[in-house]
Amino acid sequence: MDTDRTNPQIGQLLDFFGKTFGSSEGVRVFAAPGRVNLIGEHIDYCGGFVFPAALTLGTYVAVRKNGTKDTVRLAATTIDGVRSFKLSDIESAKALDWGNYQAGVVRELMLLGVPVEGFDAAYLSTIPFGAGLSSSASIEVSTGLAVSELFGAPVTGKELALAGQRAENRFCGVNCGIMDQFASAMGLAGHAILLDCASVTHKYAPLDLGDSVLVLANTCKKHALGASKYNERRGEVAVGLEEMNRIALAHGKTAKPNLCAFNKAELLEYAPEIANDIIRKRVMHVVSENERVKEAVTLLESGNLTAFGALLRDANQSIRYLYEATGEELDAIFDAALDFSDCIGSRMTGGGFGGCTVNIVKASAVEAFKAHAAAAYTAKTGNIPEFYVCEIGNGARELV
Ligand code: GLA
Repeated sequence: MDTDRTNPQIGQLLDFFGKTFGSSEGVRVFAAPGRVNLIGEHIDYCGGFVFPAALTLGTYVAVRKNGTKDTVRLAATTIDGVRSFKLSDIESAKALDWGNYQAGVVRELMLLGVPVEGFDAAYLSTIPFGAGLSSSASIEVSTGLAVSELFGAPVTGKELALAGQRAENRFCGVNCGIMDQFASAMGLAGHAILLDCASVTHKYAPLDLGDSVLVLANTCKKHALGASKYNERRGEVAVGLEEMNRIALAHGKTAKPNLCAFNKAELLEYAPEIANDIIRKRVMHVVSENERVKEAVTLLESGNLTAFGALLRDANQSIRYLYEATGEELDAIFDAALDFSDCIGSRMTGGGFGGCTVNIVKASAVEAFKAHAAAAYTAKTGNIPEFYVCEIGNGARELV
């Protein structure tokens, strides 16, 4: 995301704001990115380690106070018309066909004491829709930043991320973890973020891929994160935690606060005693994935990209066969990447059930990789994929 006023997105957004709300005088522009997760999938809500990075694709928002005490007006370049809601009746914004993520965040900011009054906001996104790259988190975080700054009560990046997550959980009905909002708020160009979701503390790790680049392969199947599957998995791992604690206590050990507090040895000891096959598989994924993240970060730090890539593949197979959160499309595009020798690592990224894989590909072989993966994927599914070579950018910030 470019900070230059001449950035075409900013110009387009200011123009759109002016046409929609009368003029673009006095408008401030903020941005927050989408994310790619390198490893650590579906464990942010189990107190695990995750390893996401912010993209240079994101949501841009132009905002200005509108002089009212109570009226918020929202517009987006890809949506017809203006949506509006009253701050005094914010609950009714849940029914909006678009704009409820924003309303949910505004509500959280008000609960934090931010003195929000009426404002107008216009949005432009460069994140492909439905690709599992966290366009919703980037709306939440960009809105949170813009509104808190506009009303003179800045909040920290971590608070912004938590407010975005609470908005999604409480207002939008998706029981997501903290990963996406945190990456969007706290991203750092050229770095991935090792985030400990139990304590919500992080450190940055330089993402040095040598002569390789990150290529996102979009299945272009609309993922349905809000739909039941995601919340269903959360229910299953809640049962998994109860089971592991029951078995731990029966072994004379103490109970743990979350699934990722169990280590591999405990997994091997207790998991065979989980009677339900589905619950056992989910638990095996979660505990082993958490171990993989720690190992992957060590491998990356020591420059062992080949072993890092191999772990990405293992992680994919775990989410495919144990967590069952991929589907025909993601499996087809992952399998296509596996037989391409200049692809060092590949895995599904994000919530799953569609969306993208992330691939580490030799820069000189990117075009050949795209052609190979597209041919195999289309032959298998009939869908046409899209590819994006991604750069790792910064987290939420003010641009203009
Ligand atoms: C979605 C959620 C995240 C995380 C991932 C899976 O992106 O928003 O909190 O759970 O799925 O790792």
